[in-house]
Amino acid sequence: MSFIKIIGMGKAVPSIRVRNQDLEKTVETSDAWIRSRTGIKARHFCGKGESALSLAAAAAENALRSSAVIPAQVGLVITACVNPDCFVPSMACLVEEKLGICHGAAAFDINAACSGFIYSLQIAQALMENGSACDQAHPYALLIGTEQLSRMLNFKDRSTCVLFGDGAAAALVRLDDEAVFFSHTAARGDAGKLFAQTIGPNDMNAHYPAARTDPAASWLKMDGPGVFRFAVTALEEEIRLLEEKSGVGAGDIDYIVCHQANARIIEHVRKRRGLPKEKFFMNLQEYGNTSGASIPLALCEMMEKGMLQSGRRIFCIGFGAGLTWAGAYLTF
Ligand code: UT7
Repeated sequence: MSFIKIIGMGKAVPSIRVRNQDLEKTVETSDAWIRSRTGIKARHFCGKGESALSLAAAAAENALRSSAVIPAQVGLVITACVNPDCFVPSMACLVEEKLGICHGAAAFDINAACSGFIYSLQIAQALMENGSACDQAHPYALLIGTEQLSRMLNFKDRSTCVLFGDGAAAALVRLDDEAVFFSHTAARGDAGKLFAQTIGPNDMNAHYPAARTDPAASWLKMDGPGVFRFAVTALEEEIRLLEEKSGVGAGDIDYIVCHQANARIIEHVRKRRGLPKEKFFMNLQEYGNTSGASIPLALCEMMEKGMLQSGRRIFCIGFGAGLTWAGAYLTF
């Protein structure tokens, strides 16, 4: 059996950087509250001409460039996103159009919220290993996490609007005989109301800090403390599961890359397990919670910093709306 391996990453960061101090001017909040309760210092929002799609295409292009792979070698594109520019055609098809991937590579979107990237790793592993997607001429898959959450934020709800940001990152993966991979995905739809967007009109053209025109727009809503309790449990259970399935203890794994929602969630679990801080990469201080983009954005920055050299073994863990949660053991 062959397993997937990430061979390159690319990211796209939107142009508007919003610090906590900037939010203080319009939202009843403070830099001190946001930093102490979440660890977030800034986030990036899409400006004019930017969207989840433009970010996805830019991140995918950067992933290809960083790996010296050309679009003609790609056999599969999966985009994980909660708030796509449009539902039909899929974002993955639109990325193919933008990148000139025009030889019949499979393309589709998934929505598993903050666990989306790990779901897409699992799907890619299955499709590539059984020969349903990719072949010798097109051995690569592009797995993209992209979000424009700023379109879903209610800037009158301080309990959510300070937490989220926009962004995208893409992983280029292929089967590798030396690689080892394991993944687990899960959901509990019956707990979905803890974190939801009500079904309704969405102001598709809104750009921060544009005023919303539709008071009934479908804002993102979250029961923060309820999701916090779920997140720490999911994180701890996924670490335990990945240890069992991979045979590698958390103490021996090189890095644990968690969904970047809140530094306190990660700290809580880190302390309970008695693990060193250096094992947990965090970049939420700069991006906030970017949902499906958060784990690949962290992996991309780790790769840029030279932290993912050959031989590294990592756990990736996501948790979020749905409720969904997921874990993956990856080797580099
Ligand atoms: O991406 C999917 C996964 N998402 C998550 O994992 C998020 C999980 N939840 C969390 O990270 C945290 O629950 C939050 C960061 C959302 C909230 O932190 P908390 O410590 O659970 O705060 P809280 O909701 O219990 O609120 C505490 C207080 C309240 O005031 P009172 O009632 O004690 O007077 C809130 O009104 O903090 C107040 N508050 C704020 N104050 C200033 C809530 N938001 C803000 C704010 N600025 N932005």
